[in-house]
Amino acid sequence: MSAIYRHDVLVIGSGAAGLSLALKLASSAKIAVLSKGSLTAANTFYAQGGVAAVMDEGDSLDAHVIDTLTAGAGLCHEDAVRITVENGPKAIHWLIEQGVAFTTEPSQNGEENYHLTKEGGHSHRRVIHAADSTGLAISNTLIDKVKNNANIALFENRVAVDLVTSAKLTGSKKNNRVVGAYVLNNITDSIEVFHAKFVVLATGGASKAYLYTSNPDIATGDGLAMAWRVGCRAANMEFNQFHPTCLYHTQGSSFLITEAIRGEGGKLRLPNGDSFMEQFDERAELAPRDIVARAIDHEMKRLGIDCVYLDISHKSSDFIRTHFPTVYERCLSLGIDITKEPIPVVPAAHYTCGGIVTDLNGQTDIAGLYAIGETAFTGLHGANRMASNSLLECFVFGFAAAKQINDQLDSVDAPPEIPRWDESQVTDSDEDVVISHNWDELRRLMWDYVGIVRTGKRLQRARNRIELLQQEILEYYSHYKISNDLIELRNLVQVAELIVRCAQQRKESRGLHYTLDYPIKIEPAKDSLLFPDI
Ligand code: FAD
Ligand code: SIN
Repeated sequence: MSAIYRHDVLVIGSGAAGLSLALKLASSAKIAVLSKGSLTAANTFYAQGGVAAVMDEGDSLDAHVIDTLTAGAGLCHEDAVRITVENGPKAIHWLIEQGVAFTTEPSQNGEENYHLTKEGGHSHRRVIHAADSTGLAISNTLIDKVKNNANIALFENRVAVDLVTSAKLTGSKKNNRVVGAYVLNNITDSIEVFHAKFVVLATGGASKAYLYTSNPDIATGDGLAMAWRVGCRAANMEFNQFHPTCLYHTQGSSFLITEAIRGEGGKLRLPNGDSFMEQFDERAELAPRDIVARAIDHEMKRLGIDCVYLDISHKSSDFIRTHFPTVYERCLSLGIDITKEPIPVVPAAHYTCGGIVTDLNGQTDIAGLYAIGETAFTGLHGANRMASNSLLECFVFGFAAAKQINDQLDSVDAPPEIPRWDESQVTDSDEDVVISHNWDELRRLMWDYVGIVRTGKRLQRARNRIELLQQEILEYYSHYKISNDLIELRNLVQVAELIVRCAQQRKESRGLHYTLDYPIKIEPAKDSLLFPDI
């Protein structure tokens, strides 16, 4: 018999968003936290550059707001931006209290101050970091805290399959509310039932929809697809961000080369050594990411080259090894000494700016269901996320959602009984090749047809292919027992459909969405909203 669990709050995801919400709520609620793999299997763990927040007297909240609005190309919701920026310093102090060891430097009066670095779009130094492995420092600290909290139960190797709502159980949409989830236990290969008064999707982004990505394997948009299936709106999915500088190497493909390298003076160069960013934007290497990625893509296509180069070798070897030890070691292991030579780089899919529509407390369209972090659409990022605003968003909205859930805990009844998962109509698959083939096809077509530069024709081609893949995957899903790969593929193809539909709706070029058919912006700026048909 597979297990049945009951908690006040089910948090799906063990990244920055899920863990910070769990810690904030743990004094008043019994919480379950799920992770697809180990607790560190999350984008958060791999974050390099840092967390953006106003921490320096020469900086201001207004400057952070303006920079975010500018990077977002006119599409950010100013209320979401203000809330995020204003709560930034508080979030950083909370992380410091938890024990995150951010990098310091001696000040003129001999005291240690936090070192702040710079990244694209920021007019000031405001990115606090732990060398170039900020995510590792944050993850390890928060994981240590949740492990030692008696009110938080941790479930690793658990893959949420679908959310359960009262409408699903009763057939009536009246007072519809989330009541739990079905979850695949990847160790026992059985489907478990989690009951909860509140469910929080903290499942991260969907950049695995693309062939080349900086993201780890978990980033398959599961939360987005699950929320869509129970009736939540999705928005601005066309704005998938491509990070300009991922390592180009046969053995280290798509390893991120942090933007902080450009913040500390790194130059982008062509194979002949010429720099080129000045021709595209007066901010050069520190222009927002959409502009830098598009410039690199343009130069690679113009010259027929496989990569461009990022050069920080003019800085002292000591500085490079202290500030960028992770990048230094990784490149060195592949025979590239970044203190002496430039790094071959290419853009790769990195961040999902759109997501499940929420209000400013993380509340989705379904009562009791919250979405926070990269899976959510709060309006913060507009058409292009500014560097290091993402981790900040996880904390700010994690805290806001925790507060709102806390305020309602006593007024919500215990969820009704959820029936066990029914496997009576399915058999073991004897054709897993269908999954691996469709997985590859989907990611390649997204890369080729829905990439940095788009056209109407390419988008339609992608849409046609995706429809065929959806039919095949649905048929497979209804006949065979589910597995981790099948769950992810089913979600990824759903997210790919949402990306293409949003891209097709947008008849202009703005931020990360650039189409040769409509090369200019059309005012007023509008979100792309999708409504599920259930
Ligand atoms: P994640 O950290 O991705 O966590 C998602 C969690 O959900 C995981 O635990 C996963 O296992 C779980 N999950 C997913 N689906 C399921 C399911 N079906 N069932 C159970 N569990 C599930 N941002 C910055 O602000 N600064 C940076 O310096 C920075 N650097 C980055 C570097 C890299 C290489 C990458 C990939 C991203 C970087 N980002 C950075 C972006 C940032 O790391 C992410 O946006 C952020 O960490 C997302 O946090 P999250 O909690 O929303 O999701
Ligand atoms: C990086 O370090 O370049 C990643 C920062 C981010 O994605 O915000």
